[in-house]
Amino acid sequence: VTLDLPSSTRAADLYDAYAALRSSASPVWSERQRAFLVARHADVSTCLTHPAFSSAIAPIALAGLPGAVAGVYRGVLQRQLDLLDPPRHTALRQLLLPAFGAQQLEHLHAFVKAWLAERLRGLGSRFDLIREIAEPLPLAVLDELLGLPAGRRADAQRQAAQFVGALAEPAACLGAASAALEGLQALLEEALTPSEQAGAGLLACLRAAAARGFMPADLLANTILILAAGHRTTTNLIGNATWLLLKHPEQRAAVTERDAWPSAIEESLRCESPVQTVRRVCAAASRLGGQELRAGDVVLLVLGAANRDASVFEHADRFVALRSPNRHLAFAAGAHFCLGAQLARLQAQAVLAALFARGALRALEPDPHWIDSRVERGVERLLVEWP
Ligand code: HEM
Repeated sequence: VTLDLPSSTRAADLYDAYAALRSSASPVWSERQRAFLVARHADVSTCLTHPAFSSAIAPIALAGLPGAVAGVYRGVLQRQLDLLDPPRHTALRQLLLPAFGAQQLEHLHAFVKAWLAERLRGLGSRFDLIREIAEPLPLAVLDELLGLPAGRRADAQRQAAQFVGALAEPAACLGAASAALEGLQALLEEALTPSEQAGAGLLACLRAAAARGFMPADLLANTILILAAGHRTTTNLIGNATWLLLKHPEQRAAVTERDAWPSAIEESLRCESPVQTVRRVCAAASRLGGQELRAGDVVLLVLGAANRDASVFEHADRFVALRSPNRHLAFAAGAHFCLGAQLARLQAQAVLAALFARGALRALEPDPHWIDSRVERGVERLLVEWP
């Protein structure tokens, strides 16, 4: 097993490679990632919570991009909440919090239940869970969260996805990225004019941020962040959790009997973490597991490896649906702890409860295809059937 970050396509290879990384007492340098790989739970926790490790990695993410492309993306990345440090991070996060508060979540919960009831009514006995539910549900929820007027919703999603997607092939897609950015900007300007009352949740928070000195570019950048951060992550959680429960019928029975969906979701997050890695940059010289780090060194925190660290989790490689406590790091930890964690949990719980309440759902393929990525982990397709 080489000491590097593998793609998440094959579970056995992935988790063997993670075990090898954890067995090294100090973080391992990866030439390909241009970063130190941090795999132990304790070290990942330190990097997520200690101020010596900064989130201001926009310049690193932009390095190597052609000038014009970097220009377009710089304006967005350097304003996104996940890439900011205090005090700007603290101020912006505070302003966005109400969009994810109890009242909003209650509203979104009702929305999710209604959406699912309608979708399940329209499905045959065989379907692809990813295409029919795990993909479209988070999109519908994000539209509702943003609260644009009905006619403009799909536009915002499409444009945010186009902008983020273009980063995969930035030079070729520069035109598309700029067009998407302009389109979104126009949508937001229209939605945020003081006379426009449409939408409560996120738009209201963005308006409040504007009143506190955040610029239109900040609002645009963070709308893109939320539309992007809330989609595939949640799709993957729904797919992974459903797959894990289908694969472990005895555990599914125990969960169903106790209505223990929340703990099954936490264990799915731990066992097959939708976000496998996050990055930080050293703001100052520091030491991690005996390794000297210099200011400017990048650390790649392998959440998926930390979540299977046997020094924290008994039978770390086993799916134990009723595991408690479960100190996984799938939503990170510290100041940047996922803002949408409750919203993602709520969606996954509603899906599992609805799917398994109807009785013996079964998988039609012995092993699903996993997405080929070093950042995300999720199943591409999950064919299921109700007998
Ligand atoms: C299962 C689903 C999800 C997973 C696994 C996940 C994971 C994460 C992780 C690991 C981070 C920390 C990034 C870092 O520290 O560098 C994060 C941050 C964030 N997530 Fe999520 N996320 C999920 C769903 C969502 C949803 C549904 C939304 C919004 C609708 C969302 C919005 C955000 C935002 C805005 C941040 C930045 C928070 C900050 O920097 O203060 N996420 N997420």
